[in-house]
Amino acid sequence: MNGASIPSFKLQGKKAIVTGGSKGIGLAIARGLAHYGAEVLITGRNEEALKKAVSDFKEDGYAVKWKTADVTLKEDVEELFSHADKVFGKLDILVNNAGMNIRKPLVEVEEDDWDRVLNTNLKGIFLAGQQAAKRMMSQRSGRIINISSILGQVGNPLQTSYAASKGGINQITKVWAAELADYDVTVNAIAPAYIKTPMTEGFLQDPERLEKIVSRTLLKRMGETEEIIGPAVFFASDASSYVTGQVLYVDGGWTAN
Ligand SMILES: NC(=O)c1ccc[n+]([C@@H]2O[C@H](COP(=O)([O-])OP(=O)(O)OC[C@H]3O[C@@H](n4cnc5c(N)ncnc54)[C@H](OP(=O)(O)O)[C@@H]3O)[C@@H](O)[C@H]2O)c1
Repeated sequence: MNGASIPSFKLQGKKAIVTGGSKGIGLAIARGLAHYGAEVLITGRNEEALKKAVSDFKEDGYAVKWKTADVTLKEDVEELFSHADKVFGKLDILVNNAGMNIRKPLVEVEEDDWDRVLNTNLKGIFLAGQQAAKRMMSQRSGRIINISSILGQVGNPLQTSYAASKGGINQITKVWAAELADYDVTVNAIAPAYIKTPMTEGFLQDPERLEKIVSRTLLKRMGETEEIIGPAVFFASDASSYVTGQVLYVDGGWTAN
């Protein structure tokens, strides 16, 4: 190993977009990317939430940018990437994180529930991924990180639309990895189990449900948002240069059990 180069986890000079970066997992990933040196642009629909996040980042010494965008709307996504072109001049990292869930038994799922979940979690990923790919192909480098879920692999009750969207994300990740490899663009997914965020805060108030989750998890607890940072920085950095088309389960051992 004498004289061998050691790959870097540093992200200095890298420009990143994190969708759904105002809360939860996206907020933590944005903080992690900024901490390792990237310039980060966060998006979401709620302007106040974005401004609050950016002001909190500023207090911690991170100059994070924001732009409102609804990932289900093609015009919004196009505007978001045009804005990133102007403020960044290039795009190195897309974290496709914005997502939502509507938990219902199969027989109660309304068509509108299905459309909202699939439009946000799957169409949103497609629209943003397509914009990122155009830019990354022309610069012949880039990292796309899709946020999936254990529900992309396992089947829990009440998750018809959500599991369909996350299974789709896993497949999109592999297809994009195959299409973009010739351009040195890697595409990977992170699949968390139950992480404490606004999306799952109800579980903490429901002892029976929490007990079911905790007892099913090898590490016997829900995850913290900060525990997604390491995998995201790995996929965003040079350290993962030979990894593409993979789904990394960050799940306390849920899918190993
Ligand atoms: N928490 C978990 O246990 C868990 C487990 C596995 C996977 N995940 C996945 O991780 C991702 C983040 O989840 P989370 O728990 O952090 O959720 P969260 O706390 O509810 O945050 C969701 C983020 O996405 C944004 N968002 C939602 N719909 C959007 C839209 N149409 N356009 C743009 N932004 C939108 C939200 O901002 P606005 O509302 O302002 O738009 C917010 O910033 C999701 O893809 C989720 O499926 C979460």
